[in-house]
Amino acid sequence: MDLFIDTAVYKEIEEIYSWGILKGVTTNPSLIYQSNENFESLIQKIARLVKGPVSAEVSSDTSEKMILQGRKLASLDENIVIKLPMTEEGLKATSVLTKENIQVNVTLIFSPTQALLASQAGAQYVSPFIGRIDDISYDGSDLIKNIKKIFVQDHAPTKIIAASVRHPKHVLDAATNGADIATIPYKVFKQMLKHPLTDSGLEGFNKDWNKYLKGDTK
Ligand code: G3P
Repeated sequence: MDLFIDTAVYKEIEEIYSWGILKGVTTNPSLIYQSNENFESLIQKIARLVKGPVSAEVSSDTSEKMILQGRKLASLDENIVIKLPMTEEGLKATSVLTKENIQVNVTLIFSPTQALLASQAGAQYVSPFIGRIDDISYDGSDLIKNIKKIFVQDHAPTKIIAASVRHPKHVLDAATNGADIATIPYKVFKQMLKHPLTDSGLEGFNKDWNKYLKGDTK
């Protein structure tokens, strides 16, 4: 499973990118708002750094406007993927933009049948929101599992991006239930890295190594 970062904060992307594990980036209007930067120049700067799919979401309400905004965003860099909402207008825009070889990520997916519609409209990616499903006492993992079953059966090329990831267990659930990608907030990347036994193990090794250097014998 590939790992994307779900943020619009450039220095967070730079830091996680430096780990050598990052394959792409997803943003949404709320994340752009939090970043307090110019949308288009930020997206372009991110796409130049990461050189993988960078999702930029349209903010229009009709398919005509979504298509125009999508074309403009896609022209900023060849790695830009247009994020469209799971609505009738979003589906129409998906079908038009993908025929123009513009990649689309259909977002706000909460059911397997929504994912099926997005895939049939030509989307390269669907983004089921697993955290928000868990929030209302349903099972985000089941959603991933069912979408995967449909895509495998259909031989659909559409990739599943597990989104709305809130903690490392969500990353594990995404990986074990068939997501192609998990898009992960900065804070969760940091949590994934940590284990108390790694810290105490390293402390022990360092202590013994220093004794060894000083010539202390056992
Ligand atoms: O990628 C979508 C994601 O950012 C939504 O996350 O935590 O607002 O449900 P959340």
